[in-house]
Amino acid sequence: MKVLVTGGTGYIGSHTVIELQQAGYEVIIIDNLSNSNIEVLDGIHKITGQYPIFEKFDICNSQDCNNFFSKYKGITAVIHFAAYKAVGESVEKPLMYYYNNLVSLLNLLDKILSHNINYLVYSSSCTVYGQPESLPVAENAPVQEAKSPYGNTKQISEEIIKDTIHANKKISCISLRYFNPIGAHPNGFIGELPIGEPNNLVPYITQTAYGIREYLRVFGNNYNTHDGTCIRDYIDVVDLSKAHIAALQRMLVHKNINNFEVFNLGAGKGYSVMEVVQCFEKVTGIRLKYKILNRRPGDIERVYADPQKANARLNWKATTSLDNSLLSAWNWEKYYRKKLNC
Ligand code: NAD
Ligand code: UFG
Repeated sequence: MKVLVTGGTGYIGSHTVIELQQAGYEVIIIDNLSNSNIEVLDGIHKITGQYPIFEKFDICNSQDCNNFFSKYKGITAVIHFAAYKAVGESVEKPLMYYYNNLVSLLNLLDKILSHNINYLVYSSSCTVYGQPESLPVAENAPVQEAKSPYGNTKQISEEIIKDTIHANKKISCISLRYFNPIGAHPNGFIGELPIGEPNNLVPYITQTAYGIREYLRVFGNNYNTHDGTCIRDYIDVVDLSKAHIAALQRMLVHKNINNFEVFNLGAGKGYSVMEVVQCFEKVTGIRLKYKILNRRPGDIERVYADPQKANARLNWKATTSLDNSLLSAWNWEKYYRKKLNC
């Protein structure tokens, strides 16, 4: 069965391609490499023994999309990862984010309709909940006004997909709201490749430990939490990837017709920034330099998932410990840096 993976050379996409191949799906990737590297395909091949089909173009280009769908017939489902994702950059360049994240989705939905593809898995985010009133946050919590253009593109995208399904009775979509994806493939050949200075905590930690960054900046220790630092639900990227196969299978097996469902993908447990730092130090034996700085504008104090719906209906559960996720992230950092120096 053919599955199209947009953004398939990116961080979460590449890990999902591996799970798809290992589950026997034939994978076709579209990616314009705006935030990833073609060598990821070699990493995938090293792990699975197979190269996925790869087409490089921008999904915002409607003509390129037409050419693609004329070339590849018989695609059963689409997993749509391709998007820009840096929250801060989206505040500075809102049009770039609205254009890329929404035009790509509109184009893709148009082609999905005209080529009779019925199943879509969409990459959403827990950012749609803002600071939830009660925790853990379940899927029925209200979507709050977005704090950034990036977050808004996720909210608007879910609305666009819902309306499209409403008007086209054969299509179904599962929207997966990720909490904080971390870690790398345990085989060590693929992982996160932040371009420039990382925005996210774990790549900043591994780069600091490797000596690329002088110290970790801890953004605020005066929050109303047990140690004053923010709390997040860190979900291992391999666990997260597996949920995409489960979502796909749910739609295929149940012949889900005309349905829009959302699922939280989190481990269900919150860790503070300092707990992540301490856990990293424990599993690697490395003492991490850090400084407490001011709060980062827009940060939510605490958020963690109620993943029971995904546990029950997708028959999926996050099983990787924070220790193992941080170790895989660290192993990937070392492998990748050595490769760069070769
Ligand atoms: P990523 O940047 O590593 O991967 C996205 C991929 O999409 C990249 O390879 C990029 O080159 C490609 N791409 C972007 N725009 C494109 C376009 N117009 N045409 C073709 N290719 C394009 O990001 P990721 O962390 O793997 O995230 C994947 C998805 O998950 C995104 O939609 C993101 O918003 C969502 N998400 C990520 C996180 C996170 O913390 N990583 C959290 C919640 C949701
Ligand atoms: N943090 C630091 N120092 C850093 C980086 C982060 O202290 O160098 C702190 C942040 O202040 C926050 C926590 O670590 O308290 C987590 O920050 P991340 O940037 O790793 O993650 P966020 O929760 O801010 O955002 C991430 C993605 C968003 C996505 C969101 C929810 O970056 O795209 O998770 O899925 F929307």
